[in-house]
Amino acid sequence: MGDKSSRLPGFYKRPLDERVNIVADWAGLDDAYVEVLKGQGLANEQADKMIENTLGTFALPLGIAANFLINGRDYLIPMAVEEPSVVAAVSNAAKKIRAGGGFHTEATDPVMIGQIQVLDIPNMDAAIAAIEANKAELLEIANCCDRVIVSLGGGALDIVARPFPDTLVGPMLVVHLHFDTRDAMGANAINTSLESLAPKIAELTNGRTNLRILSNLADQRTATARCTIPAGQLATAEIPGSDVAKLIEEANAFAVVDPYRAATHNKGIMNGIDAVCIATGNDWRAVEAGAHAYAAKDGQYRALTDWHVDENGDLYGEITLPLAVGMVGGATKVHPTARAAMKILNVASAPELAQVMAAVGLAQNLAAINALATVGIQKGHMRLHARQVALAAGAQDGMVQKIADTLVAEQNIRVERAAELLRLSVTGERSSVNSY
Ligand code: MEV
Repeated sequence: MGDKSSRLPGFYKRPLDERVNIVADWAGLDDAYVEVLKGQGLANEQADKMIENTLGTFALPLGIAANFLINGRDYLIPMAVEEPSVVAAVSNAAKKIRAGGGFHTEATDPVMIGQIQVLDIPNMDAAIAAIEANKAELLEIANCCDRVIVSLGGGALDIVARPFPDTLVGPMLVVHLHFDTRDAMGANAINTSLESLAPKIAELTNGRTNLRILSNLADQRTATARCTIPAGQLATAEIPGSDVAKLIEEANAFAVVDPYRAATHNKGIMNGIDAVCIATGNDWRAVEAGAHAYAAKDGQYRALTDWHVDENGDLYGEITLPLAVGMVGGATKVHPTARAAMKILNVASAPELAQVMAAVGLAQNLAAINALATVGIQKGHMRLHARQVALAAGAQDGMVQKIADTLVAEQNIRVERAAELLRLSVTGERSSVNSY
């Protein structure tokens, strides 16, 4: 599979069943996975065991992003998302990035941060000194509970004391546990460790512990993706590629300086990352929280990306963000569609999955700001919107695209017009504007 190309020309034109077969072939999926992809996915009986008061399931479209070349390997990327144009846009951006050699990515070790809140400390300096002096024992206690993670080379790495002398409720000490969760997202592992650790922390500090919970600002667990796009790849019929590269640099600068723009810019990044999180059964709320908190790490909320014209006149892009994602445990292992998605991705570790997501985020952002800085996004959106309007008017199969194309050509994307076109095609009458 490593030597297969993720270029899938014409994939979108194939019937749905055939697309599943193509991806199954590509990824070596067995029949059970194919059945899952062609069927309902999560059964009600399984859903009933996952949450409380279950009524059933809630389905989302699952698509495949093509063209991804990451560190020399091709990936097909499953994305679960309801928003039209996200999958097409990211595939298109990945194609441009591919022309410049693809993505180069890296990730830190999967180190989560857990927090213990300590109050009523009689002597803050003495408390911090006691924690420092007893670090080895504390790390040992923190490793008490998940022997599997420890046996795989993960577990407690460090303890850091962070005093807050002046809070709404008086002085507070926050004790951080750094814990390598290996291929797990690790929420359960670290929360269990924190609860085991808290009594000893209370004893050492002569204080009282309150909250014991992981931090979603997982800034010890980041992934980075970089790419360089030859300026020529960005050319449109009207605008030379070098000018588009400059327009994209300007768009990024806008989101670096202005939080109002940064929120939208980063939302576009998360369009892609969330879709991969959902498809793979990962906790997208955790990833969202981490990304946005990290975007404000210097005190002002900013773009998570850097895009600039490099010394050769090409466009350089980079993103770094926390990505607390796993490939063992939770919905990743329970949800049949998530399992199929993980099989398609075929990543070997949680940090590799994080790198893929960082690449998706960077490409999704490129797609958005490239469109915004040139034609605007409505043009592409309208094309997809037109398909939904055609569907709403009752068009089926091949007629959906034909009617959508006509609606776009007429710049009249309304259900009534779609219904009229459908009627004309059924009765064989000729439309005044377009005949089928
Ligand atoms: C829409 O879902 C996302 C965008 O608004 C992102 C952006 O503005 O960069 C297009």
